Amino acid sequence: MSNTNIQIFDTTLRDGEQVPGCKLDTQQKLIIADRLDNLGVDVIEAGFPISSPGDFKSVEEISKLVKNATVCGLTRAVEKDIEVAAQALTFAKKPRIHTGIGTSESHIKYKFNSNKDDILFRAFQAVKYAKSFVEDVEFYAEDAGRTDNEFLARVCEQAIKAGATVLNIPDTTGYCLPSEYGAKIKYLKENVKGIEKAILSCHCHNDLGLATANSIEGVINGARQIECTINGIGERAGNTALEEVVMILKQHPYLNLDTNINTKHLYGLSQLVSESMGIYTQPNKAIVGANAFAHSSGIHQDGMIKNRETYEIINPKDVGVTESAIVLTARSGRAALAYRAKNVGYELTKLQLDIVYANFLTYADRKKEVNDEDIHQIIETSSVSQQILSA
Ligand code: KIV
Ligand code: ZN
Repeated sequence: MSNTNIQIFDTTLRDGEQVPGCKLDTQQKLIIADRLDNLGVDVIEAGFPISSPGDFKSVEEISKLVKNATVCGLTRAVEKDIEVAAQALTFAKKPRIHTGIGTSESHIKYKFNSNKDDILFRAFQAVKYAKSFVEDVEFYAEDAGRTDNEFLARVCEQAIKAGATVLNIPDTTGYCLPSEYGAKIKYLKENVKGIEKAILSCHCHNDLGLATANSIEGVINGARQIECTINGIGERAGNTALEEVVMILKQHPYLNLDTNINTKHLYGLSQLVSESMGIYTQPNKAIVGANAFAHSSGIHQDGMIKNRETYEIINPKDVGVTESAIVLTARSGRAALAYRAKNVGYELTKLQLDIVYANFLTYADRKKEVNDEDIHQIIETSSVSQQILSA
């Protein structure tokens, strides 16, 4: 891995699947895991093996199936969890155990009724125990976003001392501002003894709509892995959206950070996850929403028809969308109507266009969107239909 390469850790099948009411069966998970492997993700978090026999089986089957990516299983800092995860990962070509513990004041006090020294000890023990099963151990400091940086650095040091290869710094509650999260990563890079032995990972939740921005700030400040889900699905407001961080890094080459993702598969995978989980993707969702490459106002359509780059910063083909859409509504202009009419076989003169356009506006005021069928009807019922049809 070069120093400019950002590892993509996909957790659609673990954190993503924690969406209320969306249970995937093993077969559905296998199909998604195979497509994620094909997409080029570096790590697939396949599940939380101790949580249920079904999750154990999914992690085991995914481990057998996946050819390229590391397969990861989540645990708490509990011996039994770690043993069960190791067992579920037996067949993985590249297994990783992801273990950890809450580190913020509120987690220490309310979740564990404990103290900082005990958390340091349990972090060390969990990583050390996981290391007795696999070489690749990732440690998470749950609620790191609200953990004071000095204590967080001490926890990270313990995890490194026990052999952690990756240190996950979750903003579990999605609270941090991008500047704060970036500063946290920078602080850890500069203050954790032995940090060169591990990579830092961003795991950001979207409670304030900042998950993507925070992850990007994290990698700008030295993290080398992003944990994310397809369509940004996950608990509450979700996780960082994989398609967003990947395309941000691709569209901003001066950041000099890249990923191994084949972006042409993004749209197809987004559709698959949405259908399998029964979770509808909002139309204005960046990159993969139905309207991400649709243009409906006259001014934008005119620009787009002259040159796509006037209103699009991404070529839709780069993410697997066949083409941009020029949507005909009552806000559309003549250029858009002429363009769409040409696509269905009518080459209109300027005069013909003026006449057909007047018909079109009356029609479009009654209908939200004018489709190809409607265009035929508008032209056939216009006063110049004979001229157009016989041309
Ligand atoms: O958000 C979080 O803190 C997590 C950890 C379990 C990694 O998902
Ligand atoms: Zn999470």
